[in-house]
Amino acid sequence: MPSKRLGILTGGGDAPGLNAVIRAVVRTAERVYGAEVVGVLDGFAGLIERRFRPLCAADVRHLIGLGGTVLGTTNRANPFAYPLPGGGTADRSAEVVENVRAAGLDALIVIGGDGTLGIAAELGKMGVQVVAVPKTIDNDLAATDYTFGFWTAIEVATDALDRLRDTAESHHRVMLLEVMGRHAGWIALHAGLTGAADVILIPEIPYALEPVAAAVERCGNRGRSSSIVVVAEGAVRRGGDACVAEVDAVTGQERLGGAGERLKRELVALLPPSIEVRATVLGHLQRGGRPVPFDRLLATLFGERAAHLAMEGQFGRMVRLLNGRVGDCELEQAVRAAKTVDPQGEMVRAARALGIAFGDET
Ligand code: F6P
Repeated sequence: MPSKRLGILTGGGDAPGLNAVIRAVVRTAERVYGAEVVGVLDGFAGLIERRFRPLCAADVRHLIGLGGTVLGTTNRANPFAYPLPGGGTADRSAEVVENVRAAGLDALIVIGGDGTLGIAAELGKMGVQVVAVPKTIDNDLAATDYTFGFWTAIEVATDALDRLRDTAESHHRVMLLEVMGRHAGWIALHAGLTGAADVILIPEIPYALEPVAAAVERCGNRGRSSSIVVVAEGAVRRGGDACVAEVDAVTGQERLGGAGERLKRELVALLPPSIEVRATVLGHLQRGGRPVPFDRLLATLFGERAAHLAMEGQFGRMVRLLNGRVGDCELEQAVRAAKTVDPQGEMVRAARALGIAFGDET
C-alpha cells in the first residue's frame, strides 16, 4: 500500500522541460518514498472534470528530452473564472477542492507560470496542499534566477538570428525578428546579445522610430550591407501601446503579436527606398522542441525538490534557483513579484557598450 498519493499538473503555456519535471517528481516520489503519483490532465480543467492518469517510473521513461507536456495544458481553465459553454464564467474552485479530496491526493504539485501559480496560491488558501514549480520561457519571475524553458527559447532565437543574418547579408537587407515576451524583454535581450543584433526593442525601454532607423543606416555607413533588429512582442513605441493581435474568444485575454510587422511598416516609411526590410515572427517555435541541457537539469532538480517538499508536508512553497542553488520560498510572495529588464542594468549597459541600440538614443 503506497504511503502517499501526489497529484501533479501542468498549467498555462508549455515550456521545454515540463516533462523533465514530471519525470523527476515521479521517480523521486516512487524511489525515495514509495509514493504514488497521479497526473492531472490539461491543467485545472482535469481537476474540474476529474481526468487523471496514474504515473509510475515506467511511464516517465525517456521523458527528459521530450518537449511539451505529456499531461497536456491549457491557459483557459482558471477555476475561479471557469468559462461556461454559452459564454461568461463561473467560480468552480470549490469543485477543485472537493475533487482533490475525492481523488485522495495528499498534495498537489502545480507546474506553471505566474497565472497558474497565482491560482495555486488561492487554492492553497482554500485548503489544497500545494507545492509549486515555476515555468515560463519568458523568465519573468523575480523569485528565481531562471525558469526552465528559457535557455531553450534563447537557443531557438539565436539560431534564427544566425540564419537571418546569412540571408540578410546575401540580400543586403534589414531583418526584424519578433520574439516572445509580453511584459519582459529577457528573450529579446539575451537573444539580441547572443545573436549579435544591431537593435533590441523591449517593453521596458519604449522606442522612438528615428533612433532605430539611424542605427540601421549606421550599419550601412560602416560598410555593412545588412542589419538585424530583435523586437519583443510586447515592445512599445514611446507613448504608444503594445501590438494586440487578437482577443481570446473564451477568456477575453489579449494576445500580443504584430510588433515586428508594425515596425517594418514604420521603418519602410522612414528609410530610403533602397533599403529593404523583412520581418519574421518566431512565435511558438520558441516553446517547443527538446530542452537544452541546462533546462533539463534545472527541471530535474526542481522536480526532485518539489517531490521532497510535498512528501515532507511543506506546502505553500515554490521551488526556485537562487544564486545558483536550488531551494524554495513562500509561494504567495513569489507569484506577486515579476522580474523585468532593468533599463539601467548590467546587461543593457553591456549591450550599449557593444554598440547595440535600444531605440531610446538621442
Ligand atoms: O509563456 C508566455 C508566452 O510565451 C508569452 O510570451 C506569449 O505572449 C504567450 O506565452 C503566448 O501564449 P499562447 O499563444 O499559448 O496563448
